[in-house]
Amino acid sequence: MRIALIGYGKMGHMIEEVAFERGHEVVLRISVDNLEDFTKDNLSKADVAIEFTAPESAYENVTACMDAGIPVVSGSTGWNDQLVAAKEYCEKNGGTFLHASNFSVGVNIFFEVNKLLARLMASQPEYDVTLKEVHHTAKKDAPSGTAVTLAEQILDESMQKRAWVNDIATSKDQLFIQSERIDPAPGTHFVKYTSDIDDIEIIHTAHSRKGFALGAVLAAEYISDKKGIYSMSDVLCLG
Ligand SMILES: NC(=O)c1ccc[n+]([C@@H]2O[C@H](COP(=O)([O-])OP(=O)(O)OC[C@H]3O[C@@H](n4cnc5c(N)ncnc54)[C@H](OP(=O)(O)O)[C@@H]3O)[C@@H](O)[C@H]2O)c1
Repeated sequence: MRIALIGYGKMGHMIEEVAFERGHEVVLRISVDNLEDFTKDNLSKADVAIEFTAPESAYENVTACMDAGIPVVSGSTGWNDQLVAAKEYCEKNGGTFLHASNFSVGVNIFFEVNKLLARLMASQPEYDVTLKEVHHTAKKDAPSGTAVTLAEQILDESMQKRAWVNDIATSKDQLFIQSERIDPAPGTHFVKYTSDIDDIEIIHTAHSRKGFALGAVLAAEYISDKKGIYSMSDVLCLG
């Protein structure tokens, strides 16, 4: 597979390493320094694009890939407010798109456990639920995209919680997501149900960025010959 890397920072470099290990070729690397190379002509030399940049640039980047007619995997976080528009753009233009707030296989299994636990806890009002995420200090968005996904999964099931807040909850219907920034910390997520009698907690800890990179390359392999909108649960057959 010929891959275009849109974003050649910490994740872009790691994805390149994993892509080489899996026998792929990287034909384009875009960062802020060479945006002039981010053209339709250059993109069309790739079979698939993998985009890991920043919240401000993600929408423009993924729609540019769709305009160039190549499938695009995006891992940029912090742009959820434009995700629906990106999916609509993809559908309208007959493109291929897969976005995930977290590409690690372990986190995607953790998402399934979180959904199941939220479903079981929905009928146990004596428990209160909170979320916590810990990341490195260079992370630009808070809460993490992964924490937002976990929160949305809980909100879908909960009878008590109506919205998440990234601050101390001021009412019972708010789901508190605590964000902590320390170095070094590739990413830990905690979901905790607390009652007077006991606590139930599930935790996912990333040990390195390699898991995110591998998941992104697996996603690119999966969508490279497909049309439409996909998720990591399609790639990992978790649905
Ligand atoms: N979904 C997941 O599993 C997952 C995992 C880890 C990280 N992430 C997310 O992925 C994103 C990137 O993370 P990172 O750790 O790789 O960050 P990073 O080291 O800061 O790298 C970002 C890269 O994007 C480039 N960039 C910034 N704006 C751009 C634009 N307008 N067009 C093209 N390239 C642009 C930067 O260029 P310069 O170097 O020239 O500034 C840099 O190469 C973040 O949103 C992060 O939260 C997601």
